[in-house]
Amino acid sequence: MSKKLAAGVIGAGLMGHGIAYLLARAGHPVRVYDSSPEALASLPERLSTIAAMFGDDTAIVGRVQACTDLGDAVGDAGFVVEAALENAALKQDLFAELERLAPPDCILASNTSAIPIATVAEKVRDKARVVGTHFWNPPHLVPLVEVVQIADENLPAVERTIAILRDAGRHPVHVRKDIPGFIGNRLQHALKREAIALVAAGICDAETIDDVVKQGFGRRMGVLGPMEQSDLVGLELTSNIHKTLMPSLDSTNEPHPYLLARIEAGHLGMKTGEGFRTWTADEAEAVRERLRRTLLADASKGEDEDT
Ligand SMILES: NC(=O)c1ccc[n+]([C@@H]2O[C@H](COP(=O)([O-])OP(=O)(O)OC[C@H]3O[C@@H](n4cnc5c(N)ncnc54)[C@H](O)[C@@H]3O)[C@@H](O)[C@H]2O)c1
Repeated sequence: MSKKLAAGVIGAGLMGHGIAYLLARAGHPVRVYDSSPEALASLPERLSTIAAMFGDDTAIVGRVQACTDLGDAVGDAGFVVEAALENAALKQDLFAELERLAPPDCILASNTSAIPIATVAEKVRDKARVVGTHFWNPPHLVPLVEVVQIADENLPAVERTIAILRDAGRHPVHVRKDIPGFIGNRLQHALKREAIALVAAGICDAETIDDVVKQGFGRRMGVLGPMEQSDLVGLELTSNIHKTLMPSLDSTNEPHPYLLARIEAGHLGMKTGEGFRTWTADEAEAVRERLRRTLLADASKGEDEDT
């Protein structure tokens, strides 16, 4: 195996530990920094759980080193991914520190879900080295990473990041403009806006929405994206449907009142036993387990197809 760049991961939480694992699995020596000693202390056990799930050699876990000092984590890194809390001021201060502590040619990537990358990079002098890397949870099982470009100057860093992630077995895509939600969350939340509006209007209940997606077009979505599907049926059909449909689709441009009312009533989702739907603890765990098993089976299948 050729010598791999040293990688730094900032934040050892839900996303950070998975990102650290997938980089270590690809052969990178990885150093992880977290401001919480508890998060660092539990890191080896959480990495070992992933290794056991994949049936991997435990040497991969040994490639990840926990650091209590940010400088130690990034001092010789060529690629750093920040996965700390979703807070703009915190990320801005972290990136200013990363610029000071990491080598000048080290790429500084943020896994922010929604903060514009230009905002994250506000206190960085050399913005050409900053990119967005939007991984999806769990990052070691979901292949997509949206790599976000801020401006012309950071195109080379975007291209290097794409190469690193591809080499690590991910499926990076290039987001050419730094827009809210990048690509995946815009698509996902356009669908959620309509789903919530349909339930709010009494057209169907929340269970039926999930049924329609899972038993209907969701069945195709893993093999056929929306653009491919339009090409398959012909663009005239898509245009004819849009003529009828577009005027009646929901266009609420803020969180829907129905969503806000559920939250106001304390219905926050599985953690409170009710969100859009009601959940016993066993039902919630069954959903989580089904998701884990399906993603793992898909990831294993993907690896078989690659070999
Ligand atoms: N959870 C998801 O589904 C998901 C998906 C995509 C992107 N993201 C983004 O990834 C980032 C991390 O999310 P998460 O779900 O892993 O959160 P998390 O709360 O599980 O982990 C965040 C970690 O950051 C640490 N931290 C806080 N301040 C820090 C600092 N100053 N320096 C270093 N570490 C610090 C915390 O101790 C914690 O361990 C966020 O920006 C989030 O929006 C999350």
